Amino acid sequence: MRTNTFVHKYLKGLINKEDIVVDMTVGNGNDTLLLCQLAKEVIGFDINEEAIINTANRVKDYSNVRLIKDNHINIDLYLNEGIKLFIFNLGYLPHSDNPSTTKASETLIAFKKAYSLLKDNGYIIITFYLGHKGGYDEYYLLTDYFKNNDINVIEKYQAHSSLKEPIVYIIKKVTT
Ligand SMILES: C[S@@+](CC[C@H](N)C(=O)[O-])C[C@H]1O[C@@H](n2cnc3c(N)ncnc32)[C@H](O)[C@@H]1O
Repeated sequence: MRTNTFVHKYLKGLINKEDIVVDMTVGNGNDTLLLCQLAKEVIGFDINEEAIINTANRVKDYSNVRLIKDNHINIDLYLNEGIKLFIFNLGYLPHSDNPSTTKASETLIAFKKAYSLLKDNGYIIITFYLGHKGGYDEYYLLTDYFKNNDINVIEKYQAHSSLKEPIVYIIKKVTT
C-alpha cells in the first residue's frame, strides 16, 4: 500500500464529525481536503504562501477549515487544547519556487507543542521523507525523542523496506 493510502485509511478510522484536527504542513492540500470531509473543524499551517493558495483552492467547498500562513512552531499562538489529531507530512513542496523544507530542530519544537495541545487518546501522525537532505536528521532527532520520553508509538509503516522510502509513525497520547 502506498504511504498516502495508508495514512488516509488510518485517518478515516480515527476522525469523526466531533473532532478538531490540525494539518501542520498543508502543502498541496491532499491531507487537508480529506480532513475537511471527516472532521468538525480543521486548522492548517504552512510557511509557504503557494501552499496556502493551493490548499485554499482544494478546500474551497468547505467552511470548516482555517488556513494559517505561519511556521508551525507557532501553533500555540492560534490553538487551544483539546485537539484530536495532528498530521505532519514533512519535507518540501514539490515544484515550488520556494520549496521551504521542514527542519529537524523546528519539527521537534512543533511536535512538543502539538503533543501538549493534544487531548487524551488523541493522535499524531508523522511521515518522514528520507530521500531529501535533512530528512534523516529529522527522523533521528524525533525518533530519539520518542524513545527517550516514553512517547507511545502505536504503529510504524514503510511501504517497502528501502533507505529512501518514507516512514510513517502513528503516536497515541495516553496519560496515566
Ligand atoms: C511534503 S509537503 C506537505 C504535503 C501535504 N501534506 C499534502 O497533502 O499535499 C511539506 C510542506 O511543509 C511545509 N513546511 C516546511 N516547513 C514548515 C514549517 N516550519 N511550518 C509549516 N510548514 C512548513 C512546506 O512549505 C511544504 O508545503
